[in-house]
Amino acid sequence: ASADRINAIKSTLRVVPDFPKPGILFLDITTLLLDPKAFKDTIDLFVERYKQKDISVVAGIEARGFMFGPAIALAIGAKFVPLRKPKKLPGEVISEKYVLEYGTDCLEMHVGAVEAGERALVVDDLVATGGTLCAAMNLLERAGAVVVECACVVEVPDLKGRERLRLHGKPLYVLIE
Ligand code: PRP
Repeated sequence: ASADRINAIKSTLRVVPDFPKPGILFLDITTLLLDPKAFKDTIDLFVERYKQKDISVVAGIEARGFMFGPAIALAIGAKFVPLRKPKKLPGEVISEKYVLEYGTDCLEMHVGAVEAGERALVVDDLVATGGTLCAAMNLLERAGAVVVECACVVEVPDLKGRERLRLHGKPLYVLIE
């Protein structure tokens, strides 16, 4: 059953205190990747949800969205589009700045990677404030794509990520709440 697989996946996650700064609890998904059964179940659960949804683009967010997005894209027969931090992509790009707790960051996407009217899934490891996912959706929508859903392995509670995505008008799916 899905619930058993999700509980097993949850048990592979690790919380690291005081990383990257004192007082911050870091949710580490690399321990999930060390467990082949949990890793496969994670991908399978997303594939089961998205395989019949007519999705032609999986957009993965640097860096940890790159660990899950490509496997999902291959399994559902979609292309994979990397959304990268600034100055990493060599071609012409569009950019979206977003606000972090301290300062701002930016995501970029290659012009021409996505065509108007394509149905897109946005993938990342984790949603906290939701700022990163909103920037990703803005990039796809500026290219004329339709964002079907955002999918993450885990949600950090009480950081209003879910509310922010609701304001954006798009559903969020997380395996582990
Ligand atoms: C983390 C995480 C998400 C984002 C979520 O990435 O992997 O991409 O933060 O935060 P938000 O919901 O508050 O926007 P990070 O910025 O640490 O970058 P990295 O994966 O490249 O290390």
